[in-house]
Amino acid sequence: MKKVRIGVVGVGGMGQAHANSVKTNVKEAELVAVCDAEEKRAKEVGEKFGVRWFTDYKELIDSQIADAVIVATPHYFHPEISVYAMNKGLHVLSEKPIAVTVSQADTMIEAATKTKKVFCVMYQRRNWGIAVAAKKLIEAGKIGEIKRTLLIDPWYRAQAYYDSGLWRATWKGEGGGVLINQAPHMIDMFTWLAGLPKRFEAKVRTKLHNIEVEDEASVLLEYDNGAWGYYYTTTNEVPHIFYLEIAGDLGKIIINGDTLRFFENSVPVSKFTFENKSMWSSVETKEKTVRIPKKQATHAEIIKNFCRAIIKGEKLVAPGVEGINSVEFINAILLSGFKGKPVETPVNRKEYDRFLQEMIRKSKGKKTVRAQIETDPNFKK
Ligand SMILES: NC(=O)c1ccc[n+]([C@@H]2O[C@H](COP(=O)([O-])OP(=O)(O)OC[C@H]3O[C@@H](n4cnc5c(N)ncnc54)[C@H](O)[C@@H]3O)[C@@H](O)[C@H]2O)c1
Repeated sequence: MKKVRIGVVGVGGMGQAHANSVKTNVKEAELVAVCDAEEKRAKEVGEKFGVRWFTDYKELIDSQIADAVIVATPHYFHPEISVYAMNKGLHVLSEKPIAVTVSQADTMIEAATKTKKVFCVMYQRRNWGIAVAAKKLIEAGKIGEIKRTLLIDPWYRAQAYYDSGLWRATWKGEGGGVLINQAPHMIDMFTWLAGLPKRFEAKVRTKLHNIEVEDEASVLLEYDNGAWGYYYTTTNEVPHIFYLEIAGDLGKIIINGDTLRFFENSVPVSKFTFENKSMWSSVETKEKTVRIPKKQATHAEIIKNFCRAIIKGEKLVAPGVEGINSVEFINAILLSGFKGKPVETPVNRKEYDRFLQEMIRKSKGKKTVRAQIETDPNFKK
């Protein structure tokens, strides 16, 4: 196969950007079709790109004109469409989060395992030079065993954003608020670097916006090895500068916005603490220069990698199966926040499904919407 024939399912803000990337920026791919549940949009976008258009994703997949689909619908549809596509022999690149619930995410992983199709998730931040450098340090054992973590990930969204679509910020349409929509990118990076915590003790609330789902979460974390951590996210704060720390026995990594700092200890803290006899002595620690690889954290780079994985077996930057970690993280926080009790991973599938159904049942939904379709201009293509 020279070029992967791609169909994009869901051509709202994000899907149109992906269709455009495939058409103009990915030499490994050919855009062959688009699909949108809204006929007018499907037709307009299909005609704009000069490709076949569909209103039913099954028809696109069954037509056999595509080798792969990019799924860019609202999150709830990601599992259903991805599983159908894989079972029909197509490779899948799903938008984030792969699913709203861990049980739905399980079905995608089962399908990918069974069909052996290439399954990728759009976590473009994994291709960010700073994240790649941090991952390399951790994997090389440079900070030693992880002892503490921190992620503060503040976002801002105006009420107009939430009012732009019926599905947004509702239990029924989206399955959560900031956690399921804005936070997954950094949660993926956090769990990719430091692992998935075992225990979550969360507080969640709707602090500022006129929405039924959470716009703020504050969480104490505990890892398998006993390390502690803290996580915070919101859509009520500016500027959007995140702060991430991973402290280990041998060193510390700090990522603050666009900078990475790495401190290396001369000896492990755990060893020094008992071997050194001087009362006021401390572990010597030095900041080291870290080479940041020149990489682009763009959607197009993930699409290119996905295509090369199909064409020549290139290793995936963001394997779809790893997309479950952010779903575990998010489900654990929501469940803990609403129960007012700690929750452990793996999240109890049945309990989470019951919880979400209950939230959907109690939901009042939305009455008025000032529809707007636009991709976040802050995201690089
Ligand atoms: N990776 C990123 O940086 C990034 C950025 C923005 C959005 N996203 C993700 O992309 C997805 C879409 O977000 P958006 O902002 O483009 O939303 P949007 O509302 O602008 O577009 C969604 C489109 O999907 C269509 N649709 C709904 N159900 C469908 C179905 N069953 N079959 C076919 N089409 C269907 C809708 O009609 C709409 O046109 C979300 O999961 C979101 O989390 C990812």
